[in-house]
Amino acid sequence: MTDLGPVTWPPAPIRTERLVLREPGAQDRAAVIELLASPEVNTYLGGPRPRDEVEREIPGAPGRRPGLFIVDLGGEMIGWITLAKDTGHLPQAAGRAELGYLFLPQAWGHGYAAEACTAALGWFAGALPGEPVVLATQTANERSMRLAARLGFTEVERFEAYGAEQWFGVWSPVTRTGA
Ligand SMILES: CC(C)(COP(=O)(O)OP(=O)(O)OC[C@H]1O[C@@H](n2cnc3c(N)ncnc32)[C@H](O)[C@@H]1OP(=O)(O)O)[C@@H](O)C(=O)NCCC(=O)NCCS
Repeated sequence: MTDLGPVTWPPAPIRTERLVLREPGAQDRAAVIELLASPEVNTYLGGPRPRDEVEREIPGAPGRRPGLFIVDLGGEMIGWITLAKDTGHLPQAAGRAELGYLFLPQAWGHGYAAEACTAALGWFAGALPGEPVVLATQTANERSMRLAARLGFTEVERFEAYGAEQWFGVWSPVTRTGA
C-alpha cells in the first residue's frame, strides 16, 4: 500500500499564489518522463531511469494515485509532490505519511517547491488532522535540505542508507499551527 488511507481523493485543485496542485493528465506525459529520466533531478535519488524504458512505461496519461499532486505553473507541469504511506523504502517511514518532491531543474530557485509543498501540507493537515508527515533526504542534497528546513521539518536522526548519509525529519501540524 502506498496510498494515504481514509482521504477523499482527488481533492479539488489547490491554488496558491502562482501555482495549481492537481491530478496528472495526458498533457503532463513529457514532463513526467523528463522528471524520471533527468540526471540532474535524480542525482540524489539513485540516478535517472533510462528514458526509453520510462517512455514505454508511460504510453499515455501518467498514472493517478492518492497523494500525487502535479504542480502546474501557467498550464505547464513543473514538478510533482507525493504524500504516501508505506512506500517501503525506509523502515523509519513505515506507516507514516512521507513527503516527496521532484521539480524540473528550470523551475528550481524560484520558491515554487516551497510554495507547493506548503499548500500540500496544509491540505494534508485538513484531510488527516493531527497526523505528522516525515521526510527523508540525503544530507548532500543541499537544496532539499534547505527546503525541508523552510517547510518546518525538524531533524529526528541521520543514518547511512543506499550508500549515503540520510536525513530523516518530521513535520507536525500541531507545532505548525501553534495549536
Ligand atoms: C529539492 C528541490 C525541490 C528544491 O527546489 P528549490 O527550487 O531549491 O526549492 P524552493 O522552492 O524552496 O526554492 C528556494 C530557492 O528559490 C529562491 N527564490 C526565488 N524567488 C523566490 C520566491 N518568490 N519565494 C521563495 N523563494 C524564492 C530562494 O532564494 C531559494 O534559492 P536558494 O536555495 O538558492 O537560496 C529541487 O532541487 C529538486 O527537485 N531536486 C531534485 C529532486 C530531489 O532531489 N528531491 C528530494 C527528494 S526527498
